[in-house]
Formats: sequence, structure tokens, C-alpha cells
Amino acid sequence: MRRHVTRRTALGMMGGTALTATLPLARRSLASTAGAEIDIISARYSFFDGKITEGLVSTLPDAPPPVIRMKRNEPFIASVTNRLEHFTTMHWHGLRLANAMDGVPYLTQFPLGQDERFDYELFSPDAGTFWYHPHCVTMEQMALGLTGILIVEEDEDPGFDSEIPLNLRDFRLDGEGRWLDLWTARGAARGGTFGTVLTTNWQLSPDYQAGAGSLVRLRVAATDTTRIYKLFIPNAQAKIIALDGHPLPELIDMPSTEETALFLGPGQRADIAVLMPDTEGQQVNLMTDAPGEPHLLARMTSQGSSTTRSISDLSPMPANPVPEPDLSSARLEEFVFGWSPEGDLPNNGLCGSLPYTFWSINRTPWAGDAVEGVGPLATFKRNESVVMRLRNESPNDHPIHLHGVAFRPIRSNKRTLPPYWTDTILLQREETIDIAFVADNPGDWAFHCHVIEHQKTGLAGYIRILDS
Ligand code: C2O
Ligand code: CU
Ligand code: CU
Repeated sequence: MRRHVTRRTALGMMGGTALTATLPLARRSLASTAGAEIDIISARYSFFDGKITEGLVSTLPDAPPPVIRMKRNEPFIASVTNRLEHFTTMHWHGLRLANAMDGVPYLTQFPLGQDERFDYELFSPDAGTFWYHPHCVTMEQMALGLTGILIVEEDEDPGFDSEIPLNLRDFRLDGEGRWLDLWTARGAARGGTFGTVLTTNWQLSPDYQAGAGSLVRLRVAATDTTRIYKLFIPNAQAKIIALDGHPLPELIDMPSTEETALFLGPGQRADIAVLMPDTEGQQVNLMTDAPGEPHLLARMTSQGSSTTRSISDLSPMPANPVPEPDLSSARLEEFVFGWSPEGDLPNNGLCGSLPYTFWSINRTPWAGDAVEGVGPLATFKRNESVVMRLRNESPNDHPIHLHGVAFRPIRSNKRTLPPYWTDTILLQREETIDIAFVADNPGDWAFHCHVIEHQKTGLAGYIRILDS
């Protein structure tokens, strides 16, 4: 039976941290703890010269949600206040944190109403590139802008000359910068509704400067609700050093053509090391394949005299402390993602969303965030090794995301996967992938497709990891 979080139990569970704005900003004994005050507000911004788009959602009045930086193994208080009329929660995608801080409405906390505050006590055993986004009124608030990059710094500086966080996402705007429908029934039933304006840090093909001959770390996050990016960097030496927050044990050459592109689905990240050209004024382009012709996402231009770094200066970064599952004893659980049989409209309570049901896990569409009595899709004992078989029986791709743990893809029926840890795996059409992990983080953990129109029309659920 699902433990349904009401306002009363939420306050109990959080030990009183779900304060309203009328209470003083008590910091308990955490005066020295790092943190950030985050107000979710409505924003305006100019995507096109001379044209202002109103009604964005951000944490700054006229700019994208900023990069948040925290340190590995150190507490960080993200004090989030909702200034919107609609309810919201904040989720910290990829962090292996305590369940009560995960920001999933009804499952881990009660949604935040206007002017209510929640102090998220973040903590990460892993260093890497993560991101944050709302998990309530998700479709609208994400489509309107509320997605940001979260960086957990390594203990030791990995030795790059500079780094550039790149938040990739679309907006659905007409040529005047006015909003188009944020989602469509046609899109929700297929691959999702695509944005019309591709942006990087909310800019159209921005240009960054980097020292000639220097090593630059790009922290790329695909935070769009729909688009699967197909990334490549022509004419430069570049290596993929981490995927989805976790360092690769061996560096992989960054693809240089659209035919070999790195696929990055909604929710996924890639850390890419780029060696800048030796002469000043040379350009390195991060491209994505897109219908029609490849699109320039961001450009780096070399500056100054060369620091003559070499790509062979790079070595794999230290692994994050993710426990290795024991495949010989692992329990197998199967999941099938597909079209939904007729289902009732989802009940998302205060986090209301799309009025359709199209998708399902194990042939059951998610009944909605606010429904009581819906059990977990699977229950695991603490520290049990687990294999989850993910079978996609649909003709669409699904970036499948599991909260609370990092998992390892161990086999696919379609392709060879490199050894790595992730929180979001892109399941291609009719693909079956086995993932493995140790169920070491107790709680109820959301499990869903990160094409938000799929998530909100049935392709969602949760798993439970028991306390003992
Ligand atoms: Cu990035 Cu459940 O989300
Ligand atoms: Cu997540
Ligand atoms: Cu999907």
C-alpha cells in the first residue's frame, strides 16, 4: 500500500522543514552549510532581437535558472520558495540523495503552494554533471523554462583550463516570440511535441571564448521535454569523459559526423573534453543532427596564444563510489513499456497535467501523482542486487529514468553498450535493455519516461526499496 503524503504527514516526515514563507528563515545549526535561495518566479526574456517573450518560468527575472555548484560529500541546502500561483516541487535529477529530499509530489512530499518554502537538504556521494527541474505541473513549468544544471565538484580539480556548462533545450514559440501550444495530443501519442527554437543556455547558437590550445570541459545537459540530441563535433580533437554524471573508465572519442552522433535523450548529460585549436580565432562547433540539416548548438572560438595542451594529457576521472551489483545472485524483474489499454484519466491532484492516457508500464497507465493505494511496480530488499529488464514494445524511443540509484546497463538486444553508470537510459524502439544496480537507497523512487508528454500520459510509476 502506498504511503500517501498529505500535508500533515509531509510536515511530520520532513521534521518541520516544509515551512511556509510566513515563518522566519530558521537555519537551525546549519549556519556554515553551503546553500542557495531559489525563488521560482515568472520571467521574461528576449530570444529574438527586439521581441520579448513573457510568461517564462525561472529563478531569475530575466535569465535562465543558473548553474548550481555543490561539493561532493558536503551538505547543501537548496531553499526553494514557490512564487507561482500553481503548485510545484523541485527535483535533483541523478543525485543519490535521501528519499524525502527527492521532490516527487505525493510520493516524497506535498506539493508547494504559492509562497511556500521547502529546504531541500542535498547531499551527493557522486561528483559530476546533474540537473534540476520541477516534478509538479512538470509539463508546463519545464516547457516554460524551469530546467537548470547542477554541478557536483570533484574532490581534486581534474585539470581543465576552463569549463562551459551547456543547457540544451527547446522552446515552442512563433516568430514573434509568442507561445505555441506547449504540448499536443498528436505529439504525446508519438515521439512528443517538438520545440520550434533550439537553444543553449537560452541563446540561439551562442559563441564562447576559450584559450587557444587549451583543454575545455563541456558539461552538456539535455533538459528538453522531448528532443533527443544527436551530438557531434567536426574538426576538433574531443573525448567523452563522463556520461550522465559518471566518469567513463575509458575515454571515448567524441563523434565527428552526424552518422556516428552521440545520442543524448531528455534527462541525459555528457561531459566532453575539447582541445581548442592552437591558433587564435579558430572555431569548434557543437552540432546536433536535426531534420533538414545539422544545427549549430554552440561555438567555441580560440583566443590568445596557445597553451599547447595535448589530448593525451587526459586520463579517466576517478570513479564515483557506486556499489557493483552481484550479477550471479541478482533478482530479475521485468518491465514492458508500451501503448496503454484504455485507462482512466490520470489524477495528478494539485500537479495536474495532460488530459489523456496513451502509455503504460506493464500494461497499466500511471493513475496519477495524487492517486492513493497504487503500489510500487517492484519492491526490493535493501542492498539486494537487482536486474531490471526494460522492454520497449513501442515504435518510439523512451529515455527511461530511475530516481535514487545509479545503474549499469548490462546488455541490449540491439547494440553494444559501453560499461558505465547512469540514471537515464535511452531505450530505442523495440529495444530490450537489462540494467543492474544495488538497491542501497531506501524509499519510494519514481521511475518514468523523461519525454514529459509520455510521463504525463501514463509512462510512469515507482519502485520501492525497503529499509531493511
Ligand atoms: Cu528528471 Cu523524475 O525526473
Ligand atoms: Cu530524477
Ligand atoms: Cu517515452
